[in-house]
Amino acid sequence: MAKSRISMTVNGRSAEALVEPRTLLIHFLREQLDLTGPHIGCDTSHCGACTVDLDGKSVKSCTMFAVQADGATVTTVEGLAAADGTLHALQEGFREMHGLQCGFCTPGMIMRAYRLLQENSSPSEEEIRFGISGNLCRCTGYQNIVKAIQYAAAKISGTPVREAAE
Ligand code: FES
Ligand code: FES
Repeated sequence: MAKSRISMTVNGRSAEALVEPRTLLIHFLREQLDLTGPHIGCDTSHCGACTVDLDGKSVKSCTMFAVQADGATVTTVEGLAAADGTLHALQEGFREMHGLQCGFCTPGMIMRAYRLLQENSSPSEEEIRFGISGNLCRCTGYQNIVKAIQYAAAKISGTPVREAAE
């Protein structure tokens, strides 16, 4: 099958590759760029484990072709921590508030929460729950995921974090 040359900025670096037109963005990220943070959790576009940030929007990377992301700016969970390894407030929040168990949903959940906090820096619990409703978690019951996002929102705004994880 004829391949197309695509280029995009991924986690601050330019990436260029030849891909088949049928290659999904999730497969391009995982198999050609070795970014295995975004996961494949379903065949139905429901789970959100593959969520990445693309040009300022949360995108389920299993639902678009890599060629559709040509020229885009993409951030995966690998791109969140600082260059010196300091975790992003969301990563710290998920660790501190026990926002994960198996962790399979976590990279997508964190990337969705990242965009949510970009759009609303002080979301209510209801807004958080609605905001992550496209991301499924089989393990946690969501309570500590919500707390992890609240932790990150508080940390980013400089507000003390009070509530303990359950
Ligand atoms: S892998 Fe489940 S929504 Fe993309
Ligand atoms: S922590 Fe296991 S699916 Fe969310």
